[in-house]
Amino acid sequence: MIHHLRAAGTSFVLDARGTGVPVVIHWGSDLGALSPAALDALADSQVPAVGPSSIDSPLRQSILPVMADGWSGRPGIAGHHESATSCAPAFVLSADELIEAVSLADPVEAGLRITLAAASLEVRVDIELSRDGVLRQRIAVTNTGDDTYSLASLDATLPIPARARELLDFTGRWPRERQPQRRDLANGTWTRDSRHGRPGHDNAFLMVAGTPGFAFRTGEVWGAHVAWSGDQRLWAESGSTGLGLLGGGELLDPGEVRLATGETYESPWLVSAYSDAGLDGLAGSFHRFIRSRRALSTRKVMLNTWEAVYFDQSAERLIELADAAADVGVERFVLDDGWMIGRTDDRRALGDWIVDPVKWPDGLHPLVDHVLDRGMDFGLWVEPEMVSLDSAVAREHPDWVLGAGADSGADSDADGTLPLPWRFQQVLDLANPEAFAHVHAQLVALLREYPIAYLKWDQNRDLLGGSAHRHTAATYRLMDALRAEFPALEIESCSSGGGRVDLGVIERTDRVWPSDTNDSLERQSIYRWTAGLVPPEFLGAHLGAATAHTTGRTHELSFRLATALFGHAGIEWDVTTLEPHERDAVGEWVAAYKRYRGLLHSGDVVRSDAGDAARWVHGVVAADAASALFAVVAMTATRDAVVGPATLPGLDPDALYRVEPVRLGAWPRVVQDAMPPWWAEGSVTMTGRVLASVGIPMPLLAPEQALVLEVTRVE
Ligand code: GLA
Repeated sequence: MIHHLRAAGTSFVLDARGTGVPVVIHWGSDLGALSPAALDALADSQVPAVGPSSIDSPLRQSILPVMADGWSGRPGIAGHHESATSCAPAFVLSADELIEAVSLADPVEAGLRITLAAASLEVRVDIELSRDGVLRQRIAVTNTGDDTYSLASLDATLPIPARARELLDFTGRWPRERQPQRRDLANGTWTRDSRHGRPGHDNAFLMVAGTPGFAFRTGEVWGAHVAWSGDQRLWAESGSTGLGLLGGGELLDPGEVRLATGETYESPWLVSAYSDAGLDGLAGSFHRFIRSRRALSTRKVMLNTWEAVYFDQSAERLIELADAAADVGVERFVLDDGWMIGRTDDRRALGDWIVDPVKWPDGLHPLVDHVLDRGMDFGLWVEPEMVSLDSAVAREHPDWVLGAGADSGADSDADGTLPLPWRFQQVLDLANPEAFAHVHAQLVALLREYPIAYLKWDQNRDLLGGSAHRHTAATYRLMDALRAEFPALEIESCSSGGGRVDLGVIERTDRVWPSDTNDSLERQSIYRWTAGLVPPEFLGAHLGAATAHTTGRTHELSFRLATALFGHAGIEWDVTTLEPHERDAVGEWVAAYKRYRGLLHSGDVVRSDAGDAARWVHGVVAADAASALFAVVAMTATRDAVVGPATLPGLDPDALYRVEPVRLGAWPRVVQDAMPPWWAEGSVTMTGRVLASVGIPMPLLAPEQALVLEVTRVE
């Protein structure tokens, strides 16, 4: 039959008539309610002409494009039965099932389960459309033959129309993650492979195809993301057939997935969305979808000890830091790397999750007790997937180091040669049940001994060996086990900063660390783009020292405060060294964050297209549009001495709003002879329509300064 899934301005129409692999008729704007007859007419009308010098039947894009159906682009599935001479399966439809919302987990509106059969293979395609318009696809392949099936790739694909001729995806490096790159979609395949054993700092993250010139607030866009924390690929393809696709899945090594008779491999979800309102429209769908699946606790202001003390830990020093943190209103104190036995630097002790008796003769108790006494909760840094060769565990179990011994997976892929060291460390072979049990037991012992509310879960190297598939699955198992045993435990996903920011890890963690840089200028850009997929309440945002440790750039306090407000705020700075005026400013900022976090962590992210590269405007508008918080950010010196009004998009056009500047500890630096006159009044009142189209003249901000504006509906 023909299936029509509809939600939140999006339609997905699948023609599953006949015995062929079902064909996607439409994925994009809502087509309205269509009767079965209208759907038949739609599907019939979309059959294209037969091209010259081609197969003798119309070529259509199925949910599993393969050569047997005339497809000469990248196939949805590739692999072979090891004794077979041909590896081009021909699939037929064996079942198509519509699954209504009632039998699916909220917030899914409706789902389809399509079963396809070929000689010696069965494929199941799950397609779900959420209430928020997010479409998820996952494919499972089962070997029904007598012989081992070696899977090369299994990618979910979606059609994009010919007018989606422009592509956006991301790249980056430590600590400059998620930088946008754009290009025209020419004929061919634009592929972004990640072979880091984690998504990596240069991960494609989100691939968007759209109508030329699409922007934050305008244009039709189709975007996809692979919800997986290991090797992966995300791609877009356009061919002379006139068909275009977005595709993605796990990137498998040759021989990594070999299915014996009856065994199944299931792909990660390809998570995608469509919007006719630009990148903010996409972000809105993704955010609502993620929020409906992951209800987070109130995002406590935290202090992380890393850039304050590095490895220089003692109870005395950290109690002093905890006191200074509590004095400015911090609610969670996170002890970073350096607490484990013998961990004097980054060359040793990973894998021994035991408190160092030299730095901590009474264990962590004196610190933890003090933190709790001061009304904060306690968090601890761990890196459970890693091992230092200079550690008790590596000395006692050298074969647990990934690559050192027989690999624990179905196939031995290790010849005894260790991968190159990276940050002086190796990977613990978590797919080895004994290594898994060891690290699990040590973490459980810590969680039982101390009231740990929060683990900062780090992962600081590329795998460069072993099976990324088995390692990622084992990491998920370890996280899932701990979450099941300690249901109140929160986990942060860190990976040398933002090397593991994906919707697979977000299913099991409460926060991601977007980058190791606390440089506010870098952070403006990292939040701007990371928030295109991940809601701000998941994005750790720390107030760092005046001179950023990662870049050496110095910023005034007001810019650092304004920048760290728009996420899950924290401090990563030695607050024992603050001057009284700085302490007051930080305290004011913490209080403001507590006041605004309800709005910031539930509203719609808006990013203005107005202005230029020198001035950015971004904000969060409450779901009911009754309030909003915006930031006007001077990224560089402006071309002109006087810059035009800043527009504030995303408000209710017909409502009247009062706009007031917010002093966040200190006002930004300005370069001007006089403020715009409205400033003396303390606020300005206008309709949402006027704010979006005309805007308000702003004080002339010096470079690398930001002004925060509170917007409140007055009628
Ligand atoms: C990584 C993280 C940092 C910090 C250090 C500790 O680099 O990204 O935030 O936790 O490890 O070694």
